[in-house]
Amino acid sequence: MADEQNNGAHESETAYGRFHRRVLEGRAAVFAIATTVAISIGGIVEIVPMFSASLGPETIAEVTPYTPLEQAGRDIYVREGCYLCHSQMVRPMRAEILRYGEWSRAWEYQYDRPFQLGSRRLGPDLHRVGGKYPDAWHYEHMRDPRATSPGSVMPAYSWLLDWTTDPADVTASVRALSKLGHPYESTDEEWVRGQMQSQGETIVANLAQTGIETSWDREIIAVIAYLQRLGTDGRRVLEARETAQAEEADAADDTRTADASEVSGAGGSR
Ligand code: HEC
Repeated sequence: MADEQNNGAHESETAYGRFHRRVLEGRAAVFAIATTVAISIGGIVEIVPMFSASLGPETIAEVTPYTPLEQAGRDIYVREGCYLCHSQMVRPMRAEILRYGEWSRAWEYQYDRPFQLGSRRLGPDLHRVGGKYPDAWHYEHMRDPRATSPGSVMPAYSWLLDWTTDPADVTASVRALSKLGHPYESTDEEWVRGQMQSQGETIVANLAQTGIETSWDREIIAVIAYLQRLGTDGRRVLEARETAQAEEADAADDTRTADASEVSGAGGSR
């Protein structure tokens, strides 16, 4: 009994130890086979469901791929390592929701390839930054973060104001993503360039209102397009759901109030 409970005895002297050390670990071939079997079972359980569409994460039609210009901005975001300081995932906790807005849902990442969840927050989460600031704010912030956010430790990315995007590179990204199933209308370089230019010119016009002169092919324009898109599809879907729910609740309330006033003759206020 004392032996079984391992009272001060070396583990290899107990019944468990004998099996564990001699039968399993003492025989390399048996141990290797047993390990392979164990890992394979784990692997099958994890991998097989991924091939079954019905078990995949929920997808929503309102979430659409990044436009070519936004994708260009995303590639710059990855190149510059913005993810080293910024996460893109609002956690379902009160403090985060109050600060950033709706918490992030799995279906919002459908076209985030590779995802930019991040692992560290030296700066704020960016998943709902779209629409939070005007375009000109981002322009100034990227040129010199201290200009908009005194005391900021974020590095300046002033070269984004000069460097230009290359529609050929963006086309390569769009083609790769389209092979992975992102539905793009076209993967033609002319189309990509046209999309970039038309969306870029809207941002350039916005910036011109505050006296900033630039052109649609600057990297900063792509980064602004990307940042302004972040989290907006999801927010739209969630807001629509909330409105629908509120309307349903209102309708239910109206029937209840009607019932109540029949009984007591009370007014319909809530
Ligand atoms: C060294 C860490 C660091 C890196 C790298 C970094 N940032 Fe930041 N970022 C910060 C900090 C800190 C803040 C908060 C202060 C401020 O507004 O500058 C911030 C703020 C921001 C904000 C405003 C967020 C908000 O909700 O107010 C945006 C947008 C942003 N960063 C974008 C970027 C982009 C794009 C890149 C890459 C080109 C980048 N950051 C790289 C640290 C970083």
